[in-house]
Amino acid sequence: MDFRLEIAKGREELALLAAARFLDVAADALRSRGVFRVALAGGETPRAAYARIAESWREAPGGPLDWGRVHLFWGDERMVPPGDARSNFGMARETLISRVPIPAGNVHPVPTTGYDAGADAAAAASDTAARYERTLRETFPEAREGAPPRFDLVILGMGADGHTASLFPGDPALLEEKRWVVAARHPGSGEPRVTLTLPVLNHTAATIVLATGREKAAVMERAVRGRGHGRDPARDAAVRPPLPIELLRPAPGTLLFLADEEAAAWARSEDSGPNR
Ligand code: 6PG
Repeated sequence: MDFRLEIAKGREELALLAAARFLDVAADALRSRGVFRVALAGGETPRAAYARIAESWREAPGGPLDWGRVHLFWGDERMVPPGDARSNFGMARETLISRVPIPAGNVHPVPTTGYDAGADAAAAASDTAARYERTLRETFPEAREGAPPRFDLVILGMGADGHTASLFPGDPALLEEKRWVVAARHPGSGEPRVTLTLPVLNHTAATIVLATGREKAAVMERAVRGRGHGRDPARDAAVRPPLPIELLRPAPGTLLFLADEEAAAWARSEDSGPNR
């Protein structure tokens, strides 16, 4: 696993760097595989990056991005309808999808509709996870048991508790070794979620983790420090349980931590590991 920490001067530069990386990975994927399959993150951090992609895809270094060969997925989703302000799909539709010529058939949201919100949302989340896994089987025909779908790019955020996607510390979803998509719950609100699992995330060709703000500095330090020098937090579990973000170890693949100066405050005063 090749990893880098890049520090942006602020949130706007982070958005620009993330958009540029998205377009670079897309151009590589289209050149080598003829298709670009990317899983998007939710939350607030990626909003500006999606908007910058919508504004800059025509001037991409490899030429305008061919949206007809781009397929969008989600790394996780809240069990809310697309029109709900909490919807990760809704946020991407507002900032990106509604502003680029991507065919509707190339957009693969987690199917969070078709169940009665009053019903047992947790049970609905399991059914939704199974339905999304079927979507992945259809759109990644080369994937099979033991060989999960290999996204060309996954964009992730990170919580101050070390969660990523909807893989939260202590959640059974974190231990899933076979299924590609499972139900999860937000530990604070209990909100039912659906998330890609580590077998899929750790099979990704290129991963970008976006983090901004002082509240993420401690967990960013922990996420990055242990990577160089052959450390494996899973092996050090006896010392302390690894955080989900520490278990994110895409191989073979690249992992870019893209942080603003507040989230990377600790690294600015010292070397933080290889490739910085
Ligand atoms: C979600 C995300 C989640 C998010 C982090 C960071 O559904 O909320 O997938 O993993 O990336 O919680 O969120 P912010 O970007 O809002 O800080």
